[in-house]
Amino acid sequence: MGRVEGKVAVITGGASGLGLASARRLAQEGATVVLADINEEQGRAAAAEIVGARFERLDVTVEAQWAALLDRVIAEHGKLDVLLNSAGVVKLASIEDTTEDIWRLVNSVGTDGTFYGCKHALRVMKAAGSGSIINMCSTASIQGGPQIFAYAASKSAIRGMTKSIAVLSAQEGYGVRCNSVHPGNMDTPMLRGVQAIVRANDPELAQGMDKIWVGQPEDVANTVLFLASDESRAINGAALVVDNTTTITEGVVPLH
Ligand SMILES: NC(=O)c1ccc[n+]([C@@H]2O[C@H](COP(=O)([O-])OP(=O)(O)OC[C@H]3O[C@@H](n4cnc5c(N)ncnc54)[C@H](O)[C@@H]3O)[C@@H](O)[C@H]2O)c1
Repeated sequence: MGRVEGKVAVITGGASGLGLASARRLAQEGATVVLADINEEQGRAAAAEIVGARFERLDVTVEAQWAALLDRVIAEHGKLDVLLNSAGVVKLASIEDTTEDIWRLVNSVGTDGTFYGCKHALRVMKAAGSGSIINMCSTASIQGGPQIFAYAASKSAIRGMTKSIAVLSAQEGYGVRCNSVHPGNMDTPMLRGVQAIVRANDPELAQGMDKIWVGQPEDVANTVLFLASDESRAINGAALVVDNTTTITEGVVPLH
């Protein structure tokens, strides 16, 4: 018997990185997984390799697509047990360099996408009286950073949304849990993209970067699995940090 046997999960950003690793882990433990992403080619290929998974195109920034997708999931599977909001984009820019386009892009995918997802998942989960919403935040919502202005703002908004949803659900007895996961640097295409930009623009910073701790997507996937499973039934409104002390260490955490 798997740890999430028989559960139905929708995972945004499921075509890559932390979303994909979480999809694999949930499927290994018995869940039916819907990978939702704008990257159709990668999403379909990923779903084909995961038992019990399928791909659905979803642009998380369009609320109507969310409503339609979750209604389809209910029509097909009769329920939605888990939503993981993992879709996200990062742009390296300080407040001084953040254009309106950067601000809108990062916040439309991260902030708006998570808002719409939570809103429609709560709608269908509340009707069933149970469910687990997991929002992929970041240590950026705890620390900020000089070059991640819009990203840190978006992740902080998601952290706040998570707690508000959890409190509402607990007060009203909806039976829906909502928690956030806060990874530090994890080895995914997103991080590798950031590292490539740093290497190209700031060799000194790049040297230091290569000595800093980086976690594996599976570390986050196991945290998602726990929050998706009934093992975490008393955990609601929590912000689980997966960073090997990065946010509580003075200076950097060395790579060993
Ligand atoms: N990798 C890290 O170090 C790290 C650390 C902390 C938090 N995170 C967060 O984890 C989440 C996943 O990041 P990742 O590292 O796996 O990145 P990734 O780039 O590997 O995956 C992100 C996925 O989101 C999808 N996406 C982008 N815009 C979308 C949209 N409008 N609609 C649907 N899908 C869309 C992309 O196609 C991609 O498949 C993000 O929210 C990110 O901010 C990552």
